[in-house]
Amino acid sequence: MIQIAILGFGVVGSGTAEVLTENRALIAARCGEEVNIRYILDLRDFPEHPLGNRVVHDINVILRDPEVSVVAEMMGGSHPAYDFSRAALEAGKSVVTSNKEVVATYGAELLELARSKGVSYLFEASVGGGIPIIRPLQNDLACNEILSISGILNGTTNFILSKMKREGVAFADALAEAQALGYAEANPAADVDGLDAARKIVILAALAFGVLVSPSDIRVEGISHITPEQTAVADAMGCAVKLIGHTERIGDRVLALVGPHMVPESNPVHHIEGVFNGILVDADMLGRALFYGAGAGKLPTASAVVSDILSAASSAGRPSLPHWRPAAPQDLANPADRRCRRCFVLEGDAAAAEKAKAFFGYDSFAVFGNGSFAFLSRPMTEREAGRALAESRKTLRWTMPVLD
Ligand code: HSE
Repeated sequence: MIQIAILGFGVVGSGTAEVLTENRALIAARCGEEVNIRYILDLRDFPEHPLGNRVVHDINVILRDPEVSVVAEMMGGSHPAYDFSRAALEAGKSVVTSNKEVVATYGAELLELARSKGVSYLFEASVGGGIPIIRPLQNDLACNEILSISGILNGTTNFILSKMKREGVAFADALAEAQALGYAEANPAADVDGLDAARKIVILAALAFGVLVSPSDIRVEGISHITPEQTAVADAMGCAVKLIGHTERIGDRVLALVGPHMVPESNPVHHIEGVFNGILVDADMLGRALFYGAGAGKLPTASAVVSDILSAASSAGRPSLPHWRPAAPQDLANPADRRCRRCFVLEGDAAAAEKAKAFFGYDSFAVFGNGSFAFLSRPMTEREAGRALAESRKTLRWTMPVLD
């Protein structure tokens, strides 16, 4: 019998109990052992819940119980989640978590501690909700060099953008619905302003490149500044505006960023709607692979947590953990050096648009009635774009990167 403790009995914590209860027999059949929830740590009591008698309020009860081999942390926030995770690893227990804030900030340190104790620190649920992405990157693509990872990493914002576009729902109403469905963070500003996606992209970058960048050191833009004009221009260009997390290497430096992108129909990420996430991995041997599925929500996220519980239990004594080191300033690439196609909206008429062609190298454009024209440029860095603007002597209304 595998004895576990659940830390935090909110959306994901209670979902984890539900998955373990609902699929108890098949989990036992596949693992050869039953999983028993011995403790649930929460500030609250749950007298009506069938597992209400497992609730404790003191972490030390769990830390001191030698029978508990896996602690599943789903408290959210950095503290005390980080402190309890550290204490559990110190006590020789494996820790699994859905807490991207802790993994993105303290992952390198906690992996090192787990390695020194011979236990696991697993975080499949921290990125992409229920989508298997961490283990595939770490195990199945181990013989590949990862060239880039890009995609939709936040279910709440994709849900909001999809609702606004398809159903004309107002931003506040779409956000309220995402909250009611259990998709949003406790403070939904983390979703809307891109911080949640930033935490996830630095975790993916660390898996790809071995360097853990702080989310506060990367360029992050959310969805609150997206205008109806940008959505209309994207439509005219056969694109959709999506909040994208992106990482790649530029030379020997790591670039990671989050922001709105125009995604053409030719990219499968274009078609991802609602709470779904889609993570496009470009690897040198495999080529491109899309990891797609429910990016948030109670049971999908709990599915990933339970898979980690089973993995931690089955690899007891011989955990396979990635090696990460915290990034130094010289590890970080400048986002201005990223080369990609870009959408530009410049002031001028059709004649001006024709003249601009030489500087931006585009092959299609649309002229709009309000004295501006829009086009998708050839791949260029921000520096090159600045030069093209100066040389063409055009006035920029706005620009947005394209995710090809
Ligand atoms: N708030 C997050 C999202 C939850 O919407 O994607 C899953 O990490």
